[in-house]
Amino acid sequence: MTGLFITLEGGDGTGKSTQAALLGEWFTEQGREVVFTREPGGTDLGLELREIVLHSRGDITARAEALLYAADRAHNVATIVRPSLARGAVVIQDRYLDSSAAYQGAGRVLDPVEVRNVSMWATENLVPDLTVLLDLDPKVGRERLDADNKRFDRLESEALDFHVRVRDAYLAMAASEPDRFIVVDASLDRLEIRDAIIARLGTRS
Ligand code: TYD
Repeated sequence: MTGLFITLEGGDGTGKSTQAALLGEWFTEQGREVVFTREPGGTDLGLELREIVLHSRGDITARAEALLYAADRAHNVATIVRPSLARGAVVIQDRYLDSSAAYQGAGRVLDPVEVRNVSMWATENLVPDLTVLLDLDPKVGRERLDADNKRFDRLESEALDFHVRVRDAYLAMAASEPDRFIVVDASLDRLEIRDAIIARLGTRS
């Protein structure tokens, strides 16, 4: 049995972790081993990097930020993702290289291609089998976060136009790689979203 690498992408408050859990249940029912991970922070090292990159009080320059995410990614892929795929597991991951291209690229206005290339180097070119883009108007995503009453991290605190650029970049990436991406309207009911993703999985060879 071959492993399957599925990543969930989208703005903040789009329900990625809910969908990760629902997909995981479905694969488990199919008898598959499921491994959940996330970036930043899927490993012990990643948790330390996550704290720095999201909650550091000092300034972090755009390139330094991109490299911190890439360091977290390199370690997560080498120690969790690749070994799990080699065993034949389904890896369901909350955020991956498209987050860097969208947030550090379009959001911070670094060159998205260069940012992506850093991630490709960091992961020795590991590209997901399927990437689910949960698409939502950033204003609605923000309202959901407000309703959850959570503490905003450095990226979430950015102004709305930052999050609009992030969304547009995600949609452009999805359009340029239609075989890898499925775009789902994140305002739909959680089970409708899950079913749309599963339907897409069913059409994979
Ligand atoms: P996430 O863990 O999804 O947020 P939370 O669990 O707090 O809802 O991601 C944290 C933030 O990190 C999010 O605002 C997006 C940002 N991020 C990047 O800017 N670049 C990256 O490469 C990744 C993986 C995340």
